[in-house]
Amino acid sequence: MTSKNSTRGNGDLRVGVIGAGVMGSNHARVLAQLPGVKLAGVVDPLAESRSRITGFVDCPTFATVDELLAAGVDAVTIAAPTHLHRDVSLACIAYGAHVLVEKPIATTGAEGREIIDAARKKGVTLMVGHVERFNPAVATIKEAIQGEEILSVAITRVGPFPPRMSNVGVVIDLAVHDIDLIRWFTGSDIVEVQPQLTSAVAEREDIALLQFRTESGVLAHINTNWLTPFKARTATIATRNKYIQGDLLTRQVTECFGFQRDGSYSMRHLPVGHDEPLRAELMAFINAIKTGSTPAITGEAGVASLEIAIKCLETRPKPVAAPQLHVASK
Ligand SMILES: NC(=O)c1ccc[n+]([C@@H]2O[C@H](COP(=O)([O-])OP(=O)(O)OC[C@H]3O[C@@H](n4cnc5c(N)ncnc54)[C@H](O)[C@@H]3O)[C@@H](O)[C@H]2O)c1
Repeated sequence: MTSKNSTRGNGDLRVGVIGAGVMGSNHARVLAQLPGVKLAGVVDPLAESRSRITGFVDCPTFATVDELLAAGVDAVTIAAPTHLHRDVSLACIAYGAHVLVEKPIATTGAEGREIIDAARKKGVTLMVGHVERFNPAVATIKEAIQGEEILSVAITRVGPFPPRMSNVGVVIDLAVHDIDLIRWFTGSDIVEVQPQLTSAVAEREDIALLQFRTESGVLAHINTNWLTPFKARTATIATRNKYIQGDLLTRQVTECFGFQRDGSYSMRHLPVGHDEPLRAELMAFINAIKTGSTPAITGEAGVASLEIAIKCLETRPKPVAAPQLHVASK
């Protein structure tokens, strides 16, 4: 592996993208337009992925990570398949690059901690791409619950089966977003998990109903699946004084408050911003590098959410035979 030899040129931060699939293509599109950033190149072993990238951004492409590093980078975003996150992150950190690694940080907590240790020793910024934190509707909800006593959190993230086959189920692919949100909304660790999972169509779990209790006593629930014909993402939070409902897709957030003894209450729509979440996430990463501040989503937060997701898989009750699920009683 070559050592870091970045060319800052006009002062822009040279950022490379590793993995040019669905997510990496979006990283490249956004980074190419970000002020203060030069898209240093995109890596993908597949020639067709590389040529798709050059169809919409003007940047060099490489078949290997070594070639990108040899061209010189200050930072990378890693959107390669999750099982490669550890090796690719360690290689980039050893070179001296700041790293944003897509969620989940790695395949195990131990691998995630290796990445964290390496980044700390090398003194580079490490951030995890839990992009939902940058959804403006999520930011509005977070602001609305400031100072409130949170009682419960319920999140729904459902949709059709993804077009490309994945080697993970809904818990690692989808619920990990919401585990992160629950930890972030409540500012508390999850200490109890009660998962119900089943594999109705896919080899791995494609329906998950997950219940949690946080250290602070909040009850939380995630409903996720790949069997809903349309996408839906909602978050509902009950606090002692408010009931907040957010649609994370349409970005409408409503707050009920002023509860009266006669059952009446007031309701209002809360203002929600328009930022593209990925753009806000990548700007936060660049800002953390430039200021040396703690990134919005640390490696530790990424590992904590991953480990809760893994715990849901490990403590799952015996799977229910799928066909029985479809038999409705008269
Ligand atoms: N934050 C989010 O909302 C979100 C959404 C989707 C995916 N992701 C994460 O992003 C990562 C990629 O997911 P995806 O859906 O884009 O997958 P994908 O299969 O569409 O893309 C992965 C790409 O990585 C390439 N690749 C394989 N080996 C490589 C290597 N050694 N070096 C560089 N590239 C390599 C593949 O050829 C492929 O083009 C996963 O970790 C996934 O969990 C995050």
